[in-house]
Amino acid sequence: MANKRALITGASSGIGASFARHAAAQGCDVALVARRNDVLAVLAGEIEKAHGVRASVISADLCSPEAIDGVLDQAGPVDILINNAGYSIPPLFEKTQWSAQRAFLEITVMTPARLAHGVLPGMLARGYGRIINVASAAAFSSGAAGHTLYPGGKSFLVKFSQSLSAEVKARGVFVSALSPGFVQTGFHAANGTQAQMAQAPRHFWQSPEQVVEEAWSRNAKGHEIIVPGLHNKIAIALLRHLPEAWTQGMVRAQAEKYRVDG
Ligand SMILES: NC(=O)c1ccc[n+]([C@@H]2O[C@H](COP(=O)([O-])OP(=O)(O)OC[C@H]3O[C@@H](n4cnc5c(N)ncnc54)[C@H](OP(=O)(O)O)[C@@H]3O)[C@@H](O)[C@H]2O)c1
Repeated sequence: MANKRALITGASSGIGASFARHAAAQGCDVALVARRNDVLAVLAGEIEKAHGVRASVISADLCSPEAIDGVLDQAGPVDILINNAGYSIPPLFEKTQWSAQRAFLEITVMTPARLAHGVLPGMLARGYGRIINVASAAAFSSGAAGHTLYPGGKSFLVKFSQSLSAEVKARGVFVSALSPGFVQTGFHAANGTQAQMAQAPRHFWQSPEQVVEEAWSRNAKGHEIIVPGLHNKIAIALLRHLPEAWTQGMVRAQAEKYRVDG
């Protein structure tokens, strides 16, 4: 993958940092995006030393629509786009500020679509592109109280990935939605659900490296929906194929264990 360049959002932690290391280990130059400039700078230094590729840092708030053109300008030509930055808002919708929910929609829906739209012409012109939109197993749930926009936002990424794949796969641009279950990252500390998540059965958890390795190889084979881990594959297959009336009660009871009231 020498001479390929990967743009990775949310690269300062968790799944994004793992994508950055994995891309660099394959020989890609990487452009790392998040808000924490200092953390990104340390990771960029580590990556350059370990893999001999170029790693650049782009500090941006991806909830801010005004920032996105600047990210695209600084990134230059992109062969691999990992739309990964994200979080969730655990409390009930009524107990949150609209500004927070709006920012969530920006980072989950608008920013990934805008970045993909920005890098796509170059990918098509070169006849090569890889786009991974990091969704969630929650994209296939029937929703529950709390994390109100999360399943809808993540299912947008699944449908967007499928439609875009239908448009561009034959021209060498492979688009995937990655839908992990529980992954050991900073995600739960960031949204204050660490205590609840500690109750989740150990065998449900994956490391970011496991998730990224499967995502990278299956995206390269053109898979549109990537559900990493056997336990997640079984759970999502059941959710996708059983009538929702059968699964809804169980999904809601499980999901609501991870709500935090603000
Ligand atoms: N962990 C899980 O169990 C799990 C399961 C399914 C799906 N996911 C999805 O996986 C993706 C990555 O999450 P993670 O688990 O790796 O969590 P994480 O360790 O908390 O990483 C989240 C990343 O997003 C960045 N980010 C958050 N808000 C941002 C903003 N306003 N502007 C720019 N960057 C921002 C953070 O960087 P800064 O704070 O430096 O800005 C960080 O790099 C998310 O989309 C999440 O929904 C996670």
